[in-house]
Amino acid sequence: MRFYKASLFHIGILFLLAMSSAHAYQHAVAMPDSYSAKVAQQILDRGGNAVDAAVAASFSLAVTYPEAGNLGGGGFMLMRVHHHDWFLDYRESAPAAAHRDVFLNDEGNVIPFASLLGPKSSGVPGQVMGLWQAHQRFGHLRWQEVLAPAIALAEQGFVISPDLVEVASWYSGWSSDKGYTNNFNTYFGNLVVGERLVQPELAATLKRLARDGVREFYHGETADLIVAHQQQIGGLITHQDLANYHAIWREPLSVDWQGKRVVSAPPPSSGGVALIQLLQMAEQHQNPLQTESHNSAQYIHILAELKKRAYADRAEYLGDSDFVTVPIEKLLDPAYSQQRADEINLNQPSDTEAVAPGLGPWQESEQTSHFSIVDRWGNAVASTFTLNMPFGNGWVVPGAGFLMNNEMDDFSAKPGVPNLYGVIGNDANAIAPNKRMLSSMSPTLVIADQKIDAVLGTPGGSTIITSVFQTLLNWYWFDMPSQQAIDATRVHHQLWPSQQIGFHPSLDEDTQQQLRDMGYQVEARRFFGDMQVIKRQADGTLEAASDQRGRGESRVWPQPQ
Ligand code: GLY
Repeated sequence: MRFYKASLFHIGILFLLAMSSAHAYQHAVAMPDSYSAKVAQQILDRGGNAVDAAVAASFSLAVTYPEAGNLGGGGFMLMRVHHHDWFLDYRESAPAAAHRDVFLNDEGNVIPFASLLGPKSSGVPGQVMGLWQAHQRFGHLRWQEVLAPAIALAEQGFVISPDLVEVASWYSGWSSDKGYTNNFNTYFGNLVVGERLVQPELAATLKRLARDGVREFYHGETADLIVAHQQQIGGLITHQDLANYHAIWREPLSVDWQGKRVVSAPPPSSGGVALIQLLQMAEQHQNPLQTESHNSAQYIHILAELKKRAYADRAEYLGDSDFVTVPIEKLLDPAYSQQRADEINLNQPSDTEAVAPGLGPWQESEQTSHFSIVDRWGNAVASTFTLNMPFGNGWVVPGAGFLMNNEMDDFSAKPGVPNLYGVIGNDANAIAPNKRMLSSMSPTLVIADQKIDAVLGTPGGSTIITSVFQTLLNWYWFDMPSQQAIDATRVHHQLWPSQQIGFHPSLDEDTQQQLRDMGYQVEARRFFGDMQVIKRQADGTLEAASDQRGRGESRVWPQPQ
């Protein structure tokens, strides 16, 4: 009998060990398209880690997801490697010749669309430097090996999806009558669903990068092609700007929330600050929020009130912390969040004008892309990167085959005047040479018991922050499975436009009417992000999900030992 008991005990232990090792050996990816999902899986199966997979997937997205995947833009990578959290900032920077008034006319007014489509709309690209540095520090596989899948996709082509055709034809139409030229249609004007898009110039650039490494982009033939094109169109980026570009390792921001640790992006993103403020303020109203039915008018109203306060602070205080003092500690002080949350009337919207930044005066595209990866060692990557608008400013660098960003629009061209996303900025986000423009990109990790509990993020400009926030509430307060949590209707408010709540994909008519009765304007939004998430389940296994709003694909699979 004793033997029997002992055996059962040992079998139990063996079972638990087998289970935990099976979990430990799972890989998971949630990617914005099927090509990047396949590439990430191949790299992980070949023995690469989450960072190798992230770098390979980023390069492949520069080929198959041209609206946001890029070589001519920038991004952020939040990593958990060796049980430590790392944040790499490879956001674009303003060229040295840029200045505060670069997008103003002689009367001091903003020149319409100059920061989006004009020749000076591009920041110095950071993407290649960021991918190189992430790989240099943490990659296992050779640089050539992680670039190989992207080269094959550019050379052999990939099958054009309906989604890509739709967004390309929208961009072509949108950009055609704004008074600026570009060569977008030469490269992306005739896309046909089901045909293959082969990109020989891009393939040649990727091959040079594989052969010569990062120097090629910032000092080599690619640099020459970028600068020649900038000179031809009247752009600002010089050889010196490219040579001076550097990616920056920063300390991520984190908060203890609901017994877990949420880790997110520091400035020059506004994402981490605003997300942490929202989570802390939401905790003050946990009781009505968690007991209200999800997405009821009351629930949406409380979220809108919290968002008003987070976006008022964003506009006043957030900018590149290497150039302006961002009062992060004060903004993230739980007592401050409590004070801000206490201002809210649970039944009635505050006046927009009355919602001032809470610390007093301070002295001082939608089409981004995100993916999430967890490898069998428990490392994780949350990466968000962008050209700003879909296809950036529509200029493909001739001979190099990649699009340039229009990230200069993320600066505040003139204090108080809204940008593309309708968000307002002040002096903290004014343009200055070499400064990085404020972002909303919020790659985020959740850590529980020292292990990855969730990896998440999304594109969507200023809606990124509220999408990540709502997904966290959907998981942790409403116990939704991942697919439901990210497909659920999301709502957005950002202080300005006044009392305007956007939703996607649908909100029942009764709830809309109740919100109108409270004084809100309620509208359906065409775009609302593309969440790519990984979440640990109660039994320790991983679950991955891709937003129904995009063309993403997610996979979880065991790694045989
Ligand atoms: N360009 C969008 C963002 O960085 O938030």
